[in-house]
Amino acid sequence: MTRVSLTVDGSTYSDEVEPRTLLVHYLRQQLGKTGTVVGCDTSNCGACTVLLDGLSVKSCTVLAVQADGHEVTTIEGLARDGALHPVQQAFHESHALQCGYCTPGMIMASIDLLRSNPHPSEQEIREGLEGNLCRCTGYHNIVRAVQGAAAATSEGAAS
Ligand code: FES
Ligand code: FES
Repeated sequence: MTRVSLTVDGSTYSDEVEPRTLLVHYLRQQLGKTGTVVGCDTSNCGACTVLLDGLSVKSCTVLAVQADGHEVTTIEGLARDGALHPVQQAFHESHALQCGYCTPGMIMASIDLLRSNPHPSEQEIREGLEGNLCRCTGYHNIVRAVQGAAAATSEGAAS
């Protein structure tokens, strides 16, 4: 076992983990952060996406020990004082989900996309989210949601 100390959704944790433990399993099984889900376990679907020091990663491809000393943000750490994060709000308003299984990862990846490119074109959104798969929506409303979040964020910055 190896001790890891890290920040997750603003709280600090120090836990013993097996060196082989994947970050997604640590989050779900040891911390109870079940908002981060496993769709494939093979780095294909993006359902497990979280932010590691602000950058999106597929947490099934990261070992928990690799997050030692770092900051992780999951879907459960986005809302503030009961208010949804602008990207969560945009997904809600654009009906950008059906079953919702891909949604946590899709939102985390969208946040990183908008961080690196606050005004993405439709093509850039589609390319930026190509590592996240959705079996339900056909992606149209997801793209609309990211466009809406970009617009809302720039309106907020301007006001
Ligand atoms: S569960 Fe991690 S990419 Fe599918
Ligand atoms: S909403 Fe069902 S997989 Fe995306």
